[in-house]
Amino acid sequence: MDKFIVEGGNRLVGSVKISGAKNASLAMMPTCLLAPGVFHLENTPNNRDVWTFSRLLGSLGVHAELNGNTLFMDSSTITSFEAPYEHVKKMRASIYVLGPLLARYGHAKVSLPGGCNFGPRPVDLHLKGLEKLGAEITVEGGYIVAQTKRLKGAHFHFDISSVGATVNVLMAATLAEGHTTLTNAALEPEVTALARMLQKMGAKIEGIGTTTLEIDGVDVLKPVTEVTTPDRIEAATYLIAAAATKGDVTLHNVNPYHIAAIIQKLEEAGAELDVTGETIRITMSDDPNPVDVTAAPYPSYPTDAQAQWAAFMLHAKGAATIKDTIYPTRFGYVPELQRLGARIETTENSCTVHGGRRLTGATVMSSDLRASASLVIAALMAEGTSEILRVYHIDRGYESIEQRLQALGANIVRSRTEEF
Ligand code: EPZ
Repeated sequence: MDKFIVEGGNRLVGSVKISGAKNASLAMMPTCLLAPGVFHLENTPNNRDVWTFSRLLGSLGVHAELNGNTLFMDSSTITSFEAPYEHVKKMRASIYVLGPLLARYGHAKVSLPGGCNFGPRPVDLHLKGLEKLGAEITVEGGYIVAQTKRLKGAHFHFDISSVGATVNVLMAATLAEGHTTLTNAALEPEVTALARMLQKMGAKIEGIGTTTLEIDGVDVLKPVTEVTTPDRIEAATYLIAAAATKGDVTLHNVNPYHIAAIIQKLEEAGAELDVTGETIRITMSDDPNPVDVTAAPYPSYPTDAQAQWAAFMLHAKGAATIKDTIYPTRFGYVPELQRLGARIETTENSCTVHGGRRLTGATVMSSDLRASASLVIAALMAEGTSEILRVYHIDRGYESIEQRLQALGANIVRSRTEEF
């Protein structure tokens, strides 16, 4: 497994192009199961999660191939309707094949996702939504076994805002017989991107961008070419890293509306941001003001960027509290930051970072994708050498991160280690 070796203290200066959104790609890729033919997804990020999903689609009979940042998918011949544990254990989003397979073929067998490093992540809303559309679902031997003669439109209300459950049920509803109303649907930009792609495929969806989606089922959808929306979490990560190193960085290929909450918090912390179209330039010259963050569903501050904020606050002129209302236990990065000299207290759903601390390099362990990003930012801020282990986590969602950081002036190299 690879590790990063980082010499801290360098300012990040220069420009970086943001990739397409991992979580939009993962929502859009399974749409190929809704219609036979050749799809092209442009601006697809070249990262581990896309590779994993491509292999999963391959096991179903789809020819999926990433050429640069264009994903080619040919779903003309589907040969299997089972998503085995070996794929699903690597990535929860594998469950997104359930809705499309049910909608188009009437049956599917998908492994229940494994656990996750930041707490329980149930899939009950996915299953309840599909059952409301007429699926018969049982759980046997760790597998979800689902079947239906034909899905039928219905009104399903999501108890809580769920990106994944909205993605799964929305895809299924596009081929269900009759009208479906989804209320309390997730508003995340990745859901909107999926809905727009489904419309291009011939789906009849109204209310896109709102929490109420009205879908009239159709009999047939068609393959399309679509461009993936920029990755708002990658953009947030580079903005926070730039501010944390008192740098001067320009991001290209960003949708500023998708990160309004983050921009607001960075300005409160004392950063200067110049937003022009799809370009954002951030500069920071002083230690940040302490700014509290509460992670909540979009358009609030995203849970996927709260770990990065905690790292940034390590140099704040006071204490800042980071709360996560979506994943109350998503603070696995705290003990690792403490190894760098951080003083952080955690409660049941938050942590308080006491800033103004001198950080010194250490060996730290990645625990999940966004925790890894937090450790990279803290290592860039620390004096001396840090080693960040198990960076396969970060490779899941950040294309060529060490090359991009090197180009911005960071002293970071990847080293292959036999450590397991
Ligand atoms: C998506 O996960 C993202 N993943 C996550 O990003 C992100 O953290 C999360 O949304 C929240 O924004 C992808 O898009 C592939 P949810 P998802 O369903 O869909 C509960 C990253 O770093 N819930 O919106 O799994 C759940 O426990 C990843 O890129 C149920 O109770 O999240 C959580 O508390 C990590 N039952 C809340 O809803 C369900 O059936 C929101 O989860 C489903 C979810």
